[in-house]
Amino acid sequence: MDLKKLNLENPVLVAHKGFNLINGIHDPADVDQIYHLDIRDTDVFEVTYPKSGSIWMQQILVLLEAKGDVTAISETSQCNIELIPWIEVIGNRLPFISAPSPRLRVTHLLHHFMPPALNHKKGKVIYVARNPKDVLVSFFYFHTYANILETPKNFDDFFEKFLRGKVFGGSWFEHIKSWYSHKDEMNILFITYEEMIQDLLSAVRRISLFLNKKLTDDQLANVVKHSTFTNMRNNSQANYEQVSISALFSCHLGTFMRKGTIGDWKNHFTVAQNERFDEVFHREMKDFPLKFVWDIKDFQ
Ligand code: A3P
Repeated sequence: MDLKKLNLENPVLVAHKGFNLINGIHDPADVDQIYHLDIRDTDVFEVTYPKSGSIWMQQILVLLEAKGDVTAISETSQCNIELIPWIEVIGNRLPFISAPSPRLRVTHLLHHFMPPALNHKKGKVIYVARNPKDVLVSFFYFHTYANILETPKNFDDFFEKFLRGKVFGGSWFEHIKSWYSHKDEMNILFITYEEMIQDLLSAVRRISLFLNKKLTDDQLANVVKHSTFTNMRNNSQANYEQVSISALFSCHLGTFMRKGTIGDWKNHFTVAQNERFDEVFHREMKDFPLKFVWDIKDFQ
């Protein structure tokens, strides 16, 4: 990411077509041009709501491309944010047009911003979903160290903003519904953060199969090995701690690789907050078929 192209002086949220962009990181007019991009069959878009495992999936995709060869990746001297850039960030759309195939990109945008060719099964989409209570907690901590987002007054205040969609990315509920409602039109793999926690090898196999990658068992094992929480925490190419983007984050205050588990919301929500969350969740998601895993114990 070329920080010189970004204006980080006043990174306030900008509401745009149902989504909240960040002034200086995103330009609404430029984001609107994404819709007009030509899509190739080989294009892959990783889609996430913030704090759902975006950098984890980026690492898995980078490793799958390299057939698990982490040395080949480190020799590129590029970090994952450069190997799989955010399509909506200022300066990233034009290079996409002439980039060699396969073009792998990541986005937080809602479905309606994306090129309609995706709805005709051109290119592929991987949507990573995470239970929204853990997303909320992870997002709260993210706000305390991301210089591009306003520091929350307190957890309670952030909790309400999240439920009302008054955060970067807008409403979690709208995000997942926006993508899920078009799933039959697209080549899309829906995968959850919790599935990846439960059985990373099976998740990596599913992703590899979806992308028609032919990796040996040893190569798949290497993908898994280098995408574990511990190994990613120690890998600055993967964990967004590279010097080139460190101005965006106050790394002494927090890190992307925070806890990496399921159910941390239980350490943060009050009983009243949990009841309020459940009420909103049931109202918003009553017709939504996917079930979420809310606690690591749900696997036992
Ligand atoms: P926590 O803050 O709950 O720890 P994103 O990349 O979308 O910003 O999401 C960040 C969240 O994904 C953080 O959650 C981070 O710890 C978690 N994460 C990243 N890599 C992971 C991994 N290899 N295993 C488990 N969790 C991971």
